[in-house]
Amino acid sequence: MSEVSEYVHQNKDRFLEELMELLRIPSVSADPKYKEDVNRAAEYICEKLQSAGADNVEICVTAGHPIVYGEKILEPDLPTVLVYGHYDVQPPDPIELWNSPPFEPVIVDEKIYARGSCDDKGQMYMHIKAFEVMMQEGSLPCNVKFMIEGEEEIGSDNLGVFCTENKERLKADVVLISDTSIIDNEVPSITVGLRGLSYLEVEVTGPNRDLHSGVYGGAVANPINVLCDMIASLKDENNRISIPGFYDNVQTVNEEERAEMAKAPFDEAVFKKDLEIEATSGESGYSASEHTSIRPSLDVNGIWGGYIGEGAKTVLPSKAFAKISMRLVPNQSSEEITNLFTDHFNAIAPDYVKVKVTPHHGGEPVVTPTDSIAYQAASKAMESTFGTKPIPVRGGGSIPIVALFENELGIKSVLMGFGLDSDDIHSPNEHYGIFNFFKGIETIPLFFKNFTEMSSS
Ligand code: BES
Ligand code: MN
Ligand code: MN
Repeated sequence: MSEVSEYVHQNKDRFLEELMELLRIPSVSADPKYKEDVNRAAEYICEKLQSAGADNVEICVTAGHPIVYGEKILEPDLPTVLVYGHYDVQPPDPIELWNSPPFEPVIVDEKIYARGSCDDKGQMYMHIKAFEVMMQEGSLPCNVKFMIEGEEEIGSDNLGVFCTENKERLKADVVLISDTSIIDNEVPSITVGLRGLSYLEVEVTGPNRDLHSGVYGGAVANPINVLCDMIASLKDENNRISIPGFYDNVQTVNEEERAEMAKAPFDEAVFKKDLEIEATSGESGYSASEHTSIRPSLDVNGIWGGYIGEGAKTVLPSKAFAKISMRLVPNQSSEEITNLFTDHFNAIAPDYVKVKVTPHHGGEPVVTPTDSIAYQAASKAMESTFGTKPIPVRGGGSIPIVALFENELGIKSVLMGFGLDSDDIHSPNEHYGIFNFFKGIETIPLFFKNFTEMSSS
């Protein structure tokens, strides 16, 4: 056994217990009632970074939730890795669907169940422990900076500001992030693309007040019916999004690249069985894995209005609402798509309703290089620990700050995640494999070693 794994071996239970303690803090960024808990999570990270050996550890106050910064600068001339992660989590709702309380982590079948166990507390914490291991073993080969934020799940707006204001402090050669997934524990992969996002809320107003659906129904347009019609018209019979101009800037991926991407294993039968669906559905001419990677999508995330309580109430409501998101691919721009949507939604509104469109957050799509030293270092590290070379794949999710790192700081990212798509992130019963947690802790120091060696040659 190597020295590093010996240290991990000796401290395995403590590493897990520390993660469980972090998971007990309900740091839900979206809900103001958890503000104190979000602060507590930041303090916990701060303390753990410090005790692992980081210098200049600081809780940086922002207009929103704090950012935890820390660093270990060995020599100014050595390469610098900027580790990014987030300690905030999604709301746990619907709580009644959890088999155990979301903020009382339990280990079942070698997996930790808790909100944030995979996204991203479990994955982010691997980096703090890997750093501790390198410090203890005296094997940290280069400089490292940590930037752990508390607003990823709500769009990272204040992190954008922080980056712009701290360009010098954040100087680095690469950003290393574990906040994505691998194909399978036997089939490692590295994410080389993230989709962008445009998220909006719409409100459709019919009559000025709720009406008796018998007295008025048939003569007065029902805003819920109208909203449904409007939403239905956003896609055509081929499942293409019908907003004018929507596809104008979508980069076409050539046949050769598509053939290359199709080599990544994807078993549609397993996919359908897991979700208990008879068929997948998406834009004509593309495969299911292409639908979630190289093509944009549009989804209603929530829709409400009228009476949804017990029993029946005959009402013709005054208002209907929906939250709608679009996942974007290069070279779509979040702001442009938000504007196209807004204009189109207003244009298709019949004259018997009024509509209001309010943008929420957004983010730009990215594709990260595979021919960089950093990618090669990650690939080699994973090949050593998994025993098989990772496959580059484009992911369907979004991490808005990645495009910003590139555009604002001029630093490219490596998305070396260790989660599984089946970890149920954002869903009830989110979990993270203990195997994956320790695989990350074992792989990260190898990334540092490879990156440093490859940078100097
Ligand atoms: N870690 C996820 C993103 C992710 C998950 C990427 C799995 C690839 C594979 C991240 O925390 C996330 O959930 N991002 C949000 C965007 C944000 C603006 C709310 C998302 O993708 O919905
Ligand atoms: Mn995440
Ligand atoms: Mn998330």
